[in-house]
Formats: sequence, structure tokens, C-alpha cells
Amino acid sequence: MTSLYDIGTRALNLLPPERGHQAALWSLAHGLGPSGRADRPAGLAQTLWGQSFENPVAIAAGFDKNAVAISGAIGLGVGFVEVGGVTPYPQVGNPRPRLFRLTADRAAINRLGFNNDGAEAIAKCIADYRASSGDTRPLGVNMAANSDSTDPANDFEQLVDTFAPLADFLTIDISCPNSENGLVFLSPGPLEDLLGRLTALRERKALAKPPVFLVKIAPDIEDDALDILLEIIAAAGIDGITVCNTTTARPETLTSPDRHERGGLSGKPLFARSTDMLRHVYQVTGGKMPLIGVGGISSGADAYAKIRAGASLVQLYTALVYEGPRLISRIKNDLAALLAADGFTSLGDAIGSEHR
Ligand SMILES: Cc1cc2nc3c(=O)[nH]c(=O)nc-3n(C[C@H](O)[C@H](O)[C@H](O)COP(=O)(O)O)c2cc1C
Repeated sequence: MTSLYDIGTRALNLLPPERGHQAALWSLAHGLGPSGRADRPAGLAQTLWGQSFENPVAIAAGFDKNAVAISGAIGLGVGFVEVGGVTPYPQVGNPRPRLFRLTADRAAINRLGFNNDGAEAIAKCIADYRASSGDTRPLGVNMAANSDSTDPANDFEQLVDTFAPLADFLTIDISCPNSENGLVFLSPGPLEDLLGRLTALRERKALAKPPVFLVKIAPDIEDDALDILLEIIAAAGIDGITVCNTTTARPETLTSPDRHERGGLSGKPLFARSTDMLRHVYQVTGGKMPLIGVGGISSGADAYAKIRAGASLVQLYTALVYEGPRLISRIKNDLAALLAADGFTSLGDAIGSEHR
């Protein structure tokens, strides 16, 4: 049945993409999203890193860059929240237009370039949210260096310093194709140095509840090079990996007029590549490190495929643009049904099950 939310989603898609996004975020921040919190299908809860996840589904980084709609996202029924990408100082990002809908391909291309309000303002939003909400869902911050920074590792240190006391997890994003400093840590030496500095800083801060560290990787990397990075990530004591960010690849199947725009491609055409990558990362890490599967999820079946390939948690962004906010509830319910149909009594049993 067509709901008000479906009509709203169609209306938002009539606006230019960035305006549509701002309107969606505004609606969510003002409590106008559908309520999916009561949807709590059995079998989806788990504990990871000592934190309770009521379900494994969340909205991916980049949706709520400035942490203005945390309660709204929670109202949709997500199991956890990731805000950002945040840079130490505010930045405007790349010139517009910089976000493109590829409607026929159920995809998007963005080259936003980390437009955000900066660490200070965003830390205040999170602190305010923490002070006013009794919700205990895990909350993470996606971190990136300013594009004009001459010492991007130091940017990440500043961000850990600011957000470690406020966040349950911090994502070290080394995979943004749209910013000057977005990919500098995809080389072994700089990555090893960065992770060493950040884990040392986390230790020095001696917090009662230190945040978990995740590294978010890019799909545009050969397996051999990836394996070297995975070794460094594991040796540094990183707690989990997010697989993956947008791709600069342009599959030949794309038909939308804007398919040749520069930037990172997300949505359906990213599903196969990101799931293959997830599978590979799960195998190489021996299933010892929790993974977040991201890329092209638009249904419960897609989320289930990521979980069977090795994801403990899943995130999505682009499909929300086309399917609307009720998608979160739909995915949870369909996922629970798929687990039950395959005889899994808990999510944990299904994680990585295709490898067994
Ligand atoms: C408009 C837009 C902005 C994004 N911004 C960020 C970001 O700031 N940091 C990040 O790690 N990923 C960012 N991403 C990538 C998403 O988190 C996700 O990895 C990617 O879109 C693949 O998921 P999807 O196919 O479900 O969209 C962004 C994606 C989009 C579409």
C-alpha cells in the first residue's frame, strides 16, 4: 500500500539531489520519519565489542554528516548510528553540483568532498544528544582529514582526542575518493604510522570506556595490496573493518545520463563488488574481526547475503533515496524471516555461514 512516506520519497526525488537530501534530513531531524522502533523481530540482537546491538541495520556514514538527526535515525529503528564524515575544521566541500542520482541504475555518484560543520560543532550535537536521550544504541563517528591539511595523520589524532569520550566507535575513513587527503593512508607505510599513533593516543587517554576503532576501506584496490593493508590493520589492534566505501569504477551496465560524472558510485551497482570484497576480508581475517558490510543493500535479502558473506553489521545509504525511510523496518523483518527460514535461531550463527 502506498503510504505518505512513499509519496514523500517521490516528492523528495523531484528536488535536485542535494536539496532532496537536506529536506529528508530536516524531516528526520524534526520527527517526521516513520516510526520503526517498535519493529523488533526476534533473532537480530547481538553483543559486539561488549556493546549491545538490538539489530544489525544502520544508515551509512555521509547521510547525517553533522549529527543533526540522530534521534530521527533511531526512530526509524536502526540498531546503531554513525555520523560524519567529520573533519577537524569546518569545510564547504567541492563546488556544486556534486551529487547525482542515477535513477535507472538505482545508484548515486557523489563528490561532496567532506562538507561538514567541523569537529567542535558536531561534538556539541553529540554531547547534547547524549545528555538528552536515554537511548543506549551504539553511536559512532566517521573521521576524515581536512582536504587542505598538511598533516592528515594529525587531523585524525585531533578527531580521536575530541570524539573518544563521546563515541562508542570511531571509524577511520581511509577510503574517500573525493577529497585531497582521502586516500593517502591506503599505502602501507602511512597506514601503519597512522594506526600506531591513533591506538597509542587511545591508550594514553585511559578512558573508562574507550571507543572501538574501525577502518573503512575502498573497493578500488587489488587483493594483493588489500591483503598487506589487512595485515597492518590486524597487527595494529584495530577492532573491526567497514567494507566498503564508494567506487570510482563505472560498470558497463550503467545507463543513467550522469554515469560519467566524477566521484564515488554507490547503490545497486556496488553490491556485487562490495560483497566479494567483504567475503575476501572475512576469509583473510579468519572471521576474527567483526566486519560492517556496506554497498548496494536495498532489501532484507541483500543484508542477509552480506551477513552470510561475513558481515556482523550492515549499513546502507543510497537505497534509502529510492525506497524511502520505511526500508529500515522492511529489511529487519525480511532479514529475521530469512534467518528463520534457514534454521538460524540467532544472527551470530548466520555470520560468515557461507564459508562453512
Ligand atoms: C552522498 C554520500 C556521502 C557519503 N559520505 C561519506 C562519508 O562522509 N564518509 C564515509 O565513510 N562514507 C561516505 N559515503 C559512503 C557510504 O557510507 C557508503 O559506504 C556507500 O554509499 C555505499 O553504500 P550504499 O551503496 O548503500 O550507498 C557517502 C555516500 C554518499 C552516497
